[in-house]
Amino acid sequence: MPEPGSTAALDLAAGLLASASSVAVLTGAGISTDSGIPDFRGPNGVWTRDPAAEARSNFSTYVADPQVRRDAWRIRASSEMFSALPNEGHRSLATLGDRLHTLVTQNIDGLHLLAGTPADRLVEIHGTVHRWECVDCGARGPMSEALERVRAGEEDPPCEFCGGIIKSATILFGQSLVSADLARAERAAAEADVLLAVGTSLTVYPVAGMVDIAARAGRSVIIVNAEPTALDHRATVVLLGSAAGTLSEILPG
Ligand code: APR
Ligand code: ZN
Repeated sequence: MPEPGSTAALDLAAGLLASASSVAVLTGAGISTDSGIPDFRGPNGVWTRDPAAEARSNFSTYVADPQVRRDAWRIRASSEMFSALPNEGHRSLATLGDRLHTLVTQNIDGLHLLAGTPADRLVEIHGTVHRWECVDCGARGPMSEALERVRAGEEDPPCEFCGGIIKSATILFGQSLVSADLARAERAAAEADVLLAVGTSLTVYPVAGMVDIAARAGRSVIIVNAEPTALDHRATVVLLGSAAGTLSEILPG
């Protein structure tokens, strides 16, 4: 394997992508840091800076503790996630067009949709902050409506249909993934000529398992990340660098 970040590595990755008729993509928080959204485990990550925050970010704590819910709504009401815009990395991936098998993102920021990746080829496997959902009756709605209620003074707005607890339509620790989404992700890793993993530490399963599925299926695996990941040893080529800059080089559009 060529030295991560070397010209040889860039040329190999660009060549693999140019000759691929189908590409599966897995993105993580690292592709959105250039849009002003912090990642989790990078040097300035949310969990890196406050390890206790990871423990609090789980479903049972959210449902059991009204203070955790009030804090979550307060933070959400001022989150940079709602004003963030896609960056060059999101836009480079959107140039894949019909060659995109499936883009699986662990991100909840909705930036791939905004960048033009078609919804029918996108799996937001950890959900989205742009909708709310009711824990009790399953009702859903636009997050903008719930945030209007919070900004109007409701600190922990109940479901307007059943009075139950509402949360963002994201998958918290302690919740299981949507099985159909995971099946699509695993099928993409097995079927596409190339799996391109961008801006993810590849530490959270079962999604990180896409790398192993692709490698076992004899597919090429390209990892683009600012620092080494847990699965670099399974890659055909590793590119150490920024997602935006690297993707614009290997996906010239
Ligand atoms: N370019 C490339 N890589 C970057 C950039 C960048 N501009 N910024 C950060 N990174 C790298 C970091 O070095 C880190 O290795 O992106 C990686 C992001 O890893 P994590 O913070 O672990 O995020 P992610 O892999 O998406 O986490 C998976 O864990 O906490 C849960 O649900 C959460 O979806 C998240 C999941
Ligand atoms: Zn409800």
